[in-house]
Amino acid sequence: MQKPLANKQILLGVTGGIAAYKGADLVRRLREAGAEVQVAMTHAATTFVTPLTFQAVSDNLVHTEVNPEASMGHINLARWADFILIAPATADFIARLAHGLANDLLSTICLASDRCIAVVPAMNLIMWENAATQDNCSLLTNRGIKIWGPGFGSQACGEIGAGRMLENSKLCSLVIEQLSASPGNLNGLKVLLTAGPTHEALDPVRFISNQSTGKMGFAVAKAAVEAGAQVILVSGPVILKPPPGIEYIKVESAVDMYDAVMARVHWVDIFIATAAVADYRASTLSQQKIKKTHEKMTLELVRNPDILAEVAALRSHKPFSVGFSAETHDLLHYAEDKRRRKNLDMIAANRVGTTGSGFGSEQNELHVLWEGGAQLLPLTDKVLLGRQLIRLIAERYQFFKTS
Ligand code: C5P
Repeated sequence: MQKPLANKQILLGVTGGIAAYKGADLVRRLREAGAEVQVAMTHAATTFVTPLTFQAVSDNLVHTEVNPEASMGHINLARWADFILIAPATADFIARLAHGLANDLLSTICLASDRCIAVVPAMNLIMWENAATQDNCSLLTNRGIKIWGPGFGSQACGEIGAGRMLENSKLCSLVIEQLSASPGNLNGLKVLLTAGPTHEALDPVRFISNQSTGKMGFAVAKAAVEAGAQVILVSGPVILKPPPGIEYIKVESAVDMYDAVMARVHWVDIFIATAAVADYRASTLSQQKIKKTHEKMTLELVRNPDILAEVAALRSHKPFSVGFSAETHDLLHYAEDKRRRKNLDMIAANRVGTTGSGFGSEQNELHVLWEGGAQLLPLTDKVLLGRQLIRLIAERYQFFKTS
C-alpha cells in the first residue's frame, strides 16, 4: 500500500525553543509516512539540539547558513519543498515571518517560497497571548499561512495554559491531511459553477469558440460534491460526462449561460466561474450558411454579458464569488486587476498557451488570490487541484460569512 506522504518533499524548519527536541521524532514520523525530509535550523535552534541529530534522523545534511554556493541554497530549498513546516515556531520567528524579514536561512527560504507553509507555535502562554504575537499570526493567516496550535497544557516554564507545541502524532495527521487531496467541508452549502467554452453562432453551421475543454470546471464541480455541497453545473459544449450527484445544465452560448446562471444564482452560497466565456458574439446571426463570395469579409461582434462580474455586483444575496483568469503573460498582474475590477472574493489564475498545463491538459497550476492573501497550488492533476481549490474556497468562505 502506498504511504500517505509518498513522493512528498517536506522542509522542516526548526527554531529555537525547548520543543526543538521533539523535532527529531517528528522527522522520523514524517519519513515513516513516506516523505523525504530536509531540515533547516535557526542558530538559536542549534543551541537546543545539534544539527547532527537531525542529519541522522533525516538522512540529509542539515541547513543552517545562507550559502549561495551550496547545491541546496535557499532558492533551491524553497523550490524543492512541496510543503514547509515550521515546528517549533518561536514568537520571534513568527514575528520575522509576518514582517517578511530574511535575516537567516529559514526566514529567507520562507520568503522565497510560494508553497504552503504551516507554523506550529510553541512558547510561554503570556508570549502567545501577547497582542503582538496574535496580530502577527493574523497577518500570516490572511496570507494563507496555516497556524497549527498551540496546544494547551503544562509548559517548560512551569505554567499551565496555551502555548505547547502540538503533539507529533497530531502534526503528522495535519500534514497528511494538507498534502492529500481532501476537498474540505461545504456541507449544506449550495454551489453554482460555470464550465467549458461557449459557442457563439455565426450561421447554422459555424461558431466562434476557444480551446477550453471543461476539465478544470468539471473537476472543481466533482470536488464540491465530495465536500458535501449541493451543486449545479452550467456548462458550454464539452465531451465530458458530468460528475454524479449534480444538477447539470447544458448551454451553447454566453447569453444562454448568463440566463441559466441568473435564474439560479439567488439560491446559492458560492458561485465559481470556471467557464471560458466568449467575450463577443456576432451582432447578427445569419439564418443561412454564409457564402464565400468575397476575398475579404468583416464580422461585426458585440460584447457578451460578463456573467461573473454581474453576479459579484449583486446587491442582495451576493454569493461568495470565485473567478478564473487564463492568461498567456503577466499572470498575477492581470488576475489581481480582474479580482478587484470584478469585485471577486477569490480568483484562480492559470497560464494558457503553454504545453503541459491550461486548456485541454490533464494537469494545471493555479495561483489563487484573495484580499490580503495568495496561495500557489502547484502543478498537479486537475482532479487533485479541484479538491485543493475547493478546500481553499471552504476555508475562505468561513471568513466571508463572518465578515
Ligand atoms: O475578463 P475575463 O474574461 O478574463 O474573466 C475571466 C473570468 O470571468 C472567468 O471566471 C470567467 O468564467 C468569467 N467570465 C464570465 N462571463 C464573461 C467573461 C468571463 O463569467 N462574459
